[in-house]
Amino acid sequence: MNLILLGPPGSGKGTQGERLQEDFRLPYYATGDILRAAVAEGSELGRAAQEYMDRGDLVPDEVIIGVIAERVERPEAADGFILDGFPRTVGQAEALAAEMEGLGRAITVAVLIDVDDEEVVRRLGGRRTCAKSGHVFHVDFDPPKHEGVCDVCGSRLIVRDDDRPEVIRHRLETYREKTMPLVDYYEELGVLKRVDGELEPEEVGNRIRALLATLRMEEEL
Ligand code: AP5
Repeated sequence: MNLILLGPPGSGKGTQGERLQEDFRLPYYATGDILRAAVAEGSELGRAAQEYMDRGDLVPDEVIIGVIAERVERPEAADGFILDGFPRTVGQAEALAAEMEGLGRAITVAVLIDVDDEEVVRRLGGRRTCAKSGHVFHVDFDPPKHEGVCDVCGSRLIVRDDDRPEVIRHRLETYREKTMPLVDYYEELGVLKRVDGELEPEEVGNRIRALLATLRMEEEL
């Protein structure tokens, strides 16, 4: 199961990715999390990425492609993986396809989590992220048990730098321009599946699990 989660900022890729990782016991690679960890560490990757992330721009393809290529080659990913936030450009999708071909594999499914712009603004405006575990909450839709504190590890919850209103708008423009072409790209490859991302998180998760179960059954027939 080589799975890609596609969708605009705030569509719930991270929320669903975390759940799918538990259900399917596959490694989960979220490029936003990887880059934020690199920025926090002050590594070369983090220094190369930070200014782009703060503006809501994509980091250059040549910075991010190697990061994911190294992960999909890991033994832990031999039975599959979940990618969240990658690919985000046609160049990245082509690089991933070449990498997979080299491994004698292909993308099984690209799940598009569909959410409109107004909902994105509402969600990202209320998102709170754990400074340590990266777990996400929402002040209205998924509040933590104690305000400002992560249910999972007890660490502090923060507002991400790129969740400021002007940056959210720019991230949406970037998504439309650079990432939306991937919807056609994966549709033409016959691996695109759409899920209504505006339903309750639990229901979105159920629908994704149902479509993955159907794909597995079809593969076994
Ligand atoms: P990244 O961290 O990947 O940001 P993103 O794609 O904009 O996605 P988000 O993390 O904002 O949202 P999400 O879809 O995961 O939603 P979430 O589950 O948190 O990337 C950050 C930056 O890194 C980029 O801008 C770029 O600079 C760089 N980058 C990353 N990958 C790159 C790449 N491949 N190439 C180049 N640059 C790259 O949910 C959002 C909120 O909504 C939460 O509060 C949640 O609780 C709530 N919520 C979730 N689901 C629901 C629901 N069904 N109903 C109600 N509320 C919900």
